[in-house]
Amino acid sequence: MKVLVADDISLLGLQKLDNLADTEVVVRLGMTEAELMEEVKDADALLVRSQTKVTPAVLDAGRKLHVVGRAGVGVDNIDVGHATKRGVIVINAPDGNTIAAAEHTFAMMMSIARYIPLAHQSVTAGEWKRKDFVGVELLGKTLGVIGMGRIGTEVATRARAFKMKVFGYDPFLTEERAGELGIVKTDLERALREADFITVHTPLTKDTRHLIGTEAFELMKTGVRIVNCARGGIIDEAALCVALENGKVAGAALDVFESEPLPANSPLRNAKNLILTPHLGASTLEAQEQVAISVAEEVANILAGKPFKNA
Ligand code: NAD
Ligand code: MLT
Repeated sequence: MKVLVADDISLLGLQKLDNLADTEVVVRLGMTEAELMEEVKDADALLVRSQTKVTPAVLDAGRKLHVVGRAGVGVDNIDVGHATKRGVIVINAPDGNTIAAAEHTFAMMMSIARYIPLAHQSVTAGEWKRKDFVGVELLGKTLGVIGMGRIGTEVATRARAFKMKVFGYDPFLTEERAGELGIVKTDLERALREADFITVHTPLTKDTRHLIGTEAFELMKTGVRIVNCARGGIIDEAALCVALENGKVAGAALDVFESEPLPANSPLRNAKNLILTPHLGASTLEAQEQVAISVAEEVANILAGKPFKNA
């Protein structure tokens, strides 16, 4: 059997598949869609992260394909509907990178609170401008967490350790769970109106696309700080640029973008008080090992006709 690996996936996971009898692991990174269509023709399984787009054409080309494994959470780069139509199982690794993404979110929040990247750039440019980088403390501030799933919950817990007041908005958050976490369950409007910091942790869906856009910015406090380590497109990038320029938003940090890699001419590159990272939320050694092992084990089970956990 052939397992085609199209994105950079930790060796520890790949070894699990390589150790299987009768399984050949073929790693081909950076393929065009046409190259992928050619390579997937005789593959039984395809493993990806977020770069490779598993389109209907790719799925149709994979005539032997049983399973597409996503080493990570979001399956938005895979046409799950088309895979289902063709009887191809799609699995992900839902919790291996939760802590990595929560910690990256926190690093982003601290960075915008204290201007760390801007101050670093200034010092390396030979300056010593202490007055330009007077930040704010997290203590006593209100954090609005939009999406209280795995990552949102970990962010909320860490915020409580920093003695922040946390508002959680999620249709599935119960009062009881909010109480256990020491946070306040709110609706979206209250979270937007009262938060000093806002962080989004939902998937990108038709309901969450541009959830944070012009109207949402109007509701927010002047001087709010915003983080998106979930999916590009939840925050309307054009509206964010305007809000940064007119001072409504004092600082923002984005790890994910409407188009990735970020286009060279994106206005985000020159926006004021904006920190950008290239989709690094899950990029820790620990997370990459965990998601690779989890997805490899599931793929191995599926290829062996054994029960598997998620689909
Ligand atoms: P999760 O499924 O555990 O949580 C998502 C939560 O969003 C759920 O509780 C759901 O009820 C809630 N939600 C859905 N629609 C909503 C809406 N309209 N309003 C409010 N809440 C809504 O997912 P997770 O593992 O916590 O991941 C969250 C996001 O982070 C996903 O988009 C995932 O792809 C992304 N992610 C990014 C990175 C990265 O590298 N930057 C790493 C891991 C995950
Ligand atoms: C995910 O959804 O798991 C993240 O975006 C991380 C990744 O792409 O590896």
